Amino acid sequence: MTVETAAQGAYIVAALLFILALAGLSRHETARSGNALGIAGMAVALIATIALAVTRDIGTTGLGLLVAATLIGAAIGLHRAARVEMTGMPELIALLHSFVGLAAVLVGWNGYLHVEGDPDGTEAALLAGRDMLGIHGAEVVIGVFIGAVTFTGSIVAFLKLSGRVRSSPLMLPGKNALNIGALVVFVALTAWFVVAPSLWPLVAATVVALALGWHLVASIGGGDMPVVVSMLNSYSGWAAAAAGFLLENDLLIVTGALVGSSGAYLSFIMCKAMNRSFLSVIAGGFGIEAGPGGSEDHGEHREITASGVADLLLTAESVIITPGYGMAVAQAQHGVAALTSLLRERGVTVRFGIHPVAGRLPGHMNVLLAEAHVPYDIVLELDEINDDFAGTSVVLVIGANDTVNPAALDDPSSPIAGMPVLTVWEAGEVIVFKRSMAAGYAGVQNPLFFRENTAMLFGDAKERVDDILREVSATAPAS
Ligand code: TAP
Repeated sequence: MTVETAAQGAYIVAALLFILALAGLSRHETARSGNALGIAGMAVALIATIALAVTRDIGTTGLGLLVAATLIGAAIGLHRAARVEMTGMPELIALLHSFVGLAAVLVGWNGYLHVEGDPDGTEAALLAGRDMLGIHGAEVVIGVFIGAVTFTGSIVAFLKLSGRVRSSPLMLPGKNALNIGALVVFVALTAWFVVAPSLWPLVAATVVALALGWHLVASIGGGDMPVVVSMLNSYSGWAAAAAGFLLENDLLIVTGALVGSSGAYLSFIMCKAMNRSFLSVIAGGFGIEAGPGGSEDHGEHREITASGVADLLLTAESVIITPGYGMAVAQAQHGVAALTSLLRERGVTVRFGIHPVAGRLPGHMNVLLAEAHVPYDIVLELDEINDDFAGTSVVLVIGANDTVNPAALDDPSSPIAGMPVLTVWEAGEVIVFKRSMAAGYAGVQNPLFFRENTAMLFGDAKERVDDILREVSATAPAS
């Protein structure tokens, strides 16, 4: 058996492992084994690809570069993965997507330099003889285009998610015309390159795609960023698939298509959960007219102390906890879990209401609560719990903001208008844990904080939860 045949066999095994990994990752119970299958698939794919490259006479320099790139890449990956906080995952993912985009651009350019741009013309003549030169040209421009859109789009997403630039949407005049115009120019440049391959249409297509990727993501507001991350995930998959066509690598095509289609489906599900139009988000906020967002005076807010909250909890019949990004930042989940079991021991019904985009990545709150051993059966989704707030004594909003903002339902001019939110204000008492009156991720003020039945408990969520825990533990259970 040749190395070539063995590598093709290994690619099929790796593709199957990736499919099983996706299936495993779709459920809590099997997520760990799904992850392990994905790692195994990637290891098989890497070994097969390196073995193939070695047999293709790449010379000592080529081999040295291959080993160096693999070692440096692995070292950076291990270092970043070990250090990243859970709250920093989305921006790390966005940065990794930008690498996939950049790789696709480089593969596309390499394809051009090797075929159409090669003065020797051997490869080009060979492809022309098989009537494949035009197809190769289209693969080059499309690959470079998708890669470049993914590259700059992901960089902007990284900058927004990491707070390095403002998350509010960029509203250039005629932005929809700009996006459509860029697509029309891209189609024209592809036709030009296919008919008469040369450097300039490829340079122009690269520049247009870089600008389009930047504009598409810059035009999307903070509240819609979760969809952007999964959409860029999808784009990075298509960019990898395009690179796979150019490199004639079947595994890259299969893997890219898996990532591309699963990312597109996740974006679709998230759009549905957030009541957003899928097409509008793909088109860079097409038709979204964001309002100025909450500069009006909402009145006075009321404050409460940790012991005041402990008193309320001890006399409550039922409590719902709605955690958000602040719980993740404060790492308050263990204290929250301890408070939950203490209250349940004292006969209080405690449940959790989880918004689909609470935190900074899909399932963020579920992961934190599972890590703190909160039982799954009291952790409910928005649809399952929203009707129950009205009959609840106390709601603890722990580090959540946008996901409990009534403006999403009451104010059509709000940037988060139409997004489903947890209707916490319908409960008897609402306690909001946060450090200040600052706005949430979408940058809009929250009228919830000024409602009559809302009280603010200021400070770090972990410290305040621990304070309440001490007060509740110190109070003897009613006999
Ligand atoms: P956010 O709207 O992000 O608000 C979190 C609140 O936590 C802030 O108002 C902050 O107020 C408070 N906070 C931060 N650190 C804290 C600490 N140590 N102790 C106590 N409070 C703290 O939260 P959310 O309701 O979870 O909404 C998530 C937002 O992120 C949505 O807009 C969503 O669209 C967006 N987003 C979500 C995802 C995914 S997939 N989940 C991805 C990207 C973006 P202070 O500064 O005053 O403390």
